[in-house]
Amino acid sequence: MSVQARAKLNLTLDVLGRRPDGYHELCMVMQSVQLCDVLEIAPGEGRVSSNLGYLPTGEKNLAWAAARRFWEALGRPQPPLDIHIEKRIPVCAGMAGGSSDAAAVLRELNRREGDPFTLEQLMKIGGQVGSDVPYCVLGGTALARGRGEVLTALPPLPRCHVVLCKPDFSISTPELFARADAVKLRRRPDTAGVLAALEAGDLEGTARRMYNIFEDVLPPRQAARVTEIKHTLIECGALGAAMSGTGPTAFGLFAGEEQARLAWAQLAETYQDVWLTETV
Ligand code: C5P
Repeated sequence: MSVQARAKLNLTLDVLGRRPDGYHELCMVMQSVQLCDVLEIAPGEGRVSSNLGYLPTGEKNLAWAAARRFWEALGRPQPPLDIHIEKRIPVCAGMAGGSSDAAAVLRELNRREGDPFTLEQLMKIGGQVGSDVPYCVLGGTALARGRGEVLTALPPLPRCHVVLCKPDFSISTPELFARADAVKLRRRPDTAGVLAALEAGDLEGTARRMYNIFEDVLPPRQAARVTEIKHTLIECGALGAAMSGTGPTAFGLFAGEEQARLAWAQLAETYQDVWLTETV
């Protein structure tokens, strides 16, 4: 039986400061989209495989780490399960692809074992695998604080179309956090405004306020590429556009499918990695 692992977007991302444990205090509004990886978990030899040859197959794969943590928390020896991941979420893109695979493994193992853990317990186990995993266990629209693991479910973002575009450079997450520590941030997201807009069911008000501080932390040439993508999205009718996570994927929210398709087509002329999806 296959399991879906959905991608996430950051409607907002703010870094509030550096913590004594080396992590950063975050405040983020997260949103799931329909774009997903598909996992098959079956008895085997305890291996991870995927349609992408270069993904780690052992301990370094978050799906594998999640399985290990699950059996550890349950206090039972880990049975030899094979996990195959059909990757559709872009890799190293700021969309929590790996974390979402880990969350899907936790949810599925919990289901198969007859729900020994509550959702909160499962999210806590997820936190041992990675900072974005607890949110991926929860899904939907949520406010994430702390390392990313202090979660509050929010009123759902009104359903809309999403165009995603990943420029062809990659960014190291620790490096970007270090850059954020070193620069004075010129702009912060209006998180309170986004929360109020979500409360009011106001898609346009939410989209207009989306912002991620890392957009301004990227090296100038890379920041310019993200800005260029955001401009194209807005020109094609996006209600708002932002970068997701530590990037480099930028996305736009659209009320109408026609405008979203236009934006997709326009970006696909220049970029290889462009997707059209919807919020969940
Ligand atoms: O928890 P995770 O392994 O996903 O984090 C990857 C890296 O991102 C950390 O090693 C750290 O450099 C950075 N990070 C951070 N503060 C957070 C989450 C991640 O500094 N809240």
